[in-house]
Amino acid sequence: LPPIQPALPPAVLQPAPIHPAVTALLAPHVPLHRLWEQDDPAAWLREHGAAIRGLAVSTLAGPVGADLFDRLPALEIVANFGVGYDNVDVAAARARGLVVTNTPGVLDEEVADLAVALLLATVRQLPQAERFLRAGGWRQGPFPLSPTLRGRRIGLLGLGAIGKAIARRLEGFGVDIAYHGRTRQEGVGYPWYPSAQALAAACDTLIAILPGGAATRHIVDAAVLAALGPEGVFINVARGSVVDEAALIAALQDGTILAAGLDVFAEEPAVPEALLALPNAVLLPHVGSASVQTRTAMGELVARNLLAWFREGRALTPV
Ligand code: DGY
Repeated sequence: LPPIQPALPPAVLQPAPIHPAVTALLAPHVPLHRLWEQDDPAAWLREHGAAIRGLAVSTLAGPVGADLFDRLPALEIVANFGVGYDNVDVAAARARGLVVTNTPGVLDEEVADLAVALLLATVRQLPQAERFLRAGGWRQGPFPLSPTLRGRRIGLLGLGAIGKAIARRLEGFGVDIAYHGRTRQEGVGYPWYPSAQALAAACDTLIAILPGGAATRHIVDAAVLAALGPEGVFINVARGSVVDEAALIAALQDGTILAAGLDVFAEEPAVPEALLALPNAVLLPHVGSASVQTRTAMGELVARNLLAWFREGRALTPV
């Protein structure tokens, strides 16, 4: 028998701004409260927190965990905008019996496109070439030659849905593909390596596309970068936490590796000055999934998770 839903009517709290698709889909059905617009958020939580049954969050809300959960005694569900959910303390949520949802499936192709775009931009030095043209450098002579992508040995750090979408695209580029994940996957033809370091030693290019969080923190460290070697290119479309950023900066400064393309950083939206100063780093402001269509689909999935929970007591994409 389905569980008996509590008499408390559904109400959702947004601690920070979120995509308008979330609001558009939810608002006709469920009251939505915007915490960041309250003069005194702590006082608002004391007065109204007991009425909140759902949270809609994204990385913009910062880390979400026990602090907030404890002020929302009727909370049942935390709906995260993003396939990655390292911004949510899932252990604290589980300890309180909360459901956590994310947005898988709707952004795989978009992030894979961005990974390949960033790889090409980094290897062929496209942002540098564009800056050169705008600064009038072309009048003095041609832009220096770049390395080629063809023939590169590309290691995918992570072979989930997005990693596989990246591999499908790379098939057309005349490169070799290998991967590291916790386990070797049945039916995958690419060579598997048991560690990030073993993968780096066998490759000259690493693309990080694995979940953030404690289990993968600094999986790319100084030793992995050294194993990648002086022709090495490191691409990160996962989370800033998967790489030791200080070690990466040092490796880019002293030629341990050739270049990096980064869509994610340890302390977003802050980017270390030392990275900004590096000519061999291509830096993007976490735009992997940031197309109009994909962000709308993500927002709708956040809203549909909340509505399905309130209506049927069953979330669509629990983590
Ligand atoms: C995700 O979905 O995890 C992307 O990084 C956007 O936050």
